[in-house]
Amino acid sequence: MAPLIVAIDGPSGVGKTTVSRLVARELNIPQIDTGAMYRAIGLAATRAGVDVKDEPRVAGLAANASIEFVPGERAKTILDGEDITDLIRTPEISMAASHVSAVPAVRRALVKLQQEMGRRTGGVLEGRDIGTKVFPETPFKFFLTARPEVRAQRRYRELLAKGQAVDYDRILADTIQRDTQDSTRADSPLTCDDTYQVIDTSDLRIDDVVAAIVDRVRSRAAH
Ligand code: DC
Repeated sequence: MAPLIVAIDGPSGVGKTTVSRLVARELNIPQIDTGAMYRAIGLAATRAGVDVKDEPRVAGLAANASIEFVPGERAKTILDGEDITDLIRTPEISMAASHVSAVPAVRRALVKLQQEMGRRTGGVLEGRDIGTKVFPETPFKFFLTARPEVRAQRRYRELLAKGQAVDYDRILADTIQRDTQDSTRADSPLTCDDTYQVIDTSDLRIDDVVAAIVDRVRSRAAH
């Protein structure tokens, strides 16, 4: 039987990570956070002092990076053997990730890795291009949206809870800037078509979003 692939795409701060974790748990398949992979390359570039817009050097980092996920209540992201889960959740690395994700060679390397991971085990893959580029053939594609202010507010609370000094207006401005970058880049921009089921999460509870996705997958998988 072909591995079960669930694609969850959408802009930043829409709740994809939480929703994907719970959907993956319900369906008993791994969660593959592709944004964390771009963040890992953003971190590697920042640490190495490589300009995130220097395409050949950033591409070199992506080609040589070893990225893995360790499942758990909160999945861990491992880069070259190091747990970088918390290090990649800062505003600085968010912006670096957005820049490196526009580099075609980086995308090629990471998409290949995502396809290998998905084919091996199946999974809930969250990102921007899962249903358009990584696994366009899956019948299970969901596009999560929410108003920018709602997304910025969620990110703000998340960072505050981690004890980071954050400014709401900066997060809102960053959210809007990243949306523009992610949806206007030439290679694999964030887009949605009629093969997706669109879910606006602005006024929904997480559990309702998860239930909508799981029910849809179970009912279609049964046919
Ligand atoms: O989902 P996230 O915020 O962790 O993603 C970090 C960045 O990586 C974001 O700016 C968009 C980019 N990204 C991408 O281009 N393609 C993906 N499949 C996942 C993330």
